[in-house]
Order: sequence, then C-alpha cells, then structure tokens
Amino acid sequence: MTKDQTRGSKPVIMPHSYDGIQEYDQSLPNWWLFTLFGSIVFAFLYWLANFVTGTLPDDRVAINTEIDALEARQLAAIKDLDEPTLWKMSRNSKTVAEGQAVYNSLCFTCHGPTLAGIKGLGFRLNDDLWVHGNTPTAIFNNVSEGITFEGKPTGMAAQKVLGTGRIAAVTAFLLSKQKEGAMKVIPRKDEPSQLTP
Ligand code: HEC
Repeated sequence: MTKDQTRGSKPVIMPHSYDGIQEYDQSLPNWWLFTLFGSIVFAFLYWLANFVTGTLPDDRVAINTEIDALEARQLAAIKDLDEPTLWKMSRNSKTVAEGQAVYNSLCFTCHGPTLAGIKGLGFRLNDDLWVHGNTPTAIFNNVSEGITFEGKPTGMAAQKVLGTGRIAAVTAFLLSKQKEGAMKVIPRKDEPSQLTP
C-alpha cells in the first residue's frame, strides 16, 4: 500500500472475500515485522547455542543440582540415621561430594586415594567385601567409633574429629560405590588388602 492510499481516503480493501469476510490492504507496521523476524533470528541462535554447540548452561543440570542441594539439607536434618536414609544420602550428589571431600582430607592416608587400600595401613573400601559389617549403619558406626580387633582399637574413631554429619556424608560416599543388597561379609583373613597376610 502506498502513502496515498491512506492519506485522507479510506484504506484500500482487497478485491477478494472469503465467507463474506473482506481484508484491508495494509502493510504490517515495522515494529511488528521487527518482532517477527527478530524472534526468528533469536530462535535460530538459541537453537544453535543450546542444541548444537552446547554453549548455554543446561537447565536440567542446574535444576538437578538445586534439587540435590535441597534434598541434601533435608537428609542432613534427619536425626535417626537408619539404612534407607544412608542409602538415600549415597544417591545424593551433594552429600556424596561432601563425603568425598572428607575422605580426601583424612581417610585416604590409610585407605589410599582410590579406596584400594594400603597394605599394612587400611583395608580396601571399593569392593563389595566387608569385614566389620556389610550394612550402612555398620559402616557408619565403624567410622564413628572405630574398630576393635583382638581387644585393641584399630581403624579410626572419627566421631570427635568429624561429627555425625560428616561421618554420614563419608559413609554415603563409600555406599555410592556399592550396590544395595550386594555387600558381603568376609572373615578378616580373607580381606584382599589384609594387614598381615
Ligand atoms: C590411621 C589409619 C586409618 C585412617 C585415617 C582411617 N582408617 Fe579406616 N581402617 C583402618 C584400619 C587399619 C582398618 C581395618 C581394621 C582391622 O584391623 O580390622 C580400617 C577399617 C575401616 C572400615 C571397615 C572396613 C571393613 O572391611 O569392614 C571402614 C568402613 C573404614 N575403615 C572407613 C574409614 C573412613 C571413612 C575413614 C576416614 C574418616 C577412615 N577409615 C580412616 C585405618 C584407618
């Protein structure tokens, strides 16, 4: 439509009519066209950044991290640390990361950086074989109160050093390497990383 068609006169009506409905011959305003083409360009760039190059952060990752952080706080507030709670903690990425930090600051000195155990110092903790109890609460108690073998204290009684929260987290970290129901008890002499072969 030219300027002359609007100035002073009535807008021009298109010759066709559908079901009795007629159409003005108006060009779309620039702001409207700008929004349309702008959103097409934006959608293309967004698609490129999100699905092709992966430059934008993934919302699902951010949401899961936040949900895990919330759940970790809820779990940490539970006073009665029973088996299901400790298993739940072992599936929470935030709690497991906290437990791993505790492990790396303390436990690795005797159990090794990869949990494979160190002969003469500490048992292997990344297999499914357990000498002093194969349940989450047994592991928690072994770390918390230490272990007595032949009347002598061994292992590490960590309650005073770490407190319940961090012991629960490090237990969750150890459990995160285990399968529920697949942990076995073995005699001390059969422990692969046994102190005295
Ligand atoms: C000073 C060395 C030392 C440190 C530090 C240590 N442990 Fe141990 N841990 C041992 C020894 C030794 C044993 C084996 C006990 C035995 O002689 O039967 C053991 C046993 C264990 C067991 C039982 C393993 C089984 O097969 O039942 C667990 C679980 C464990 N430690 C976890 C931890 C965690 C978690 C930490 C860190 C908070 C830690 N330990 C720090 C030396 C250590």
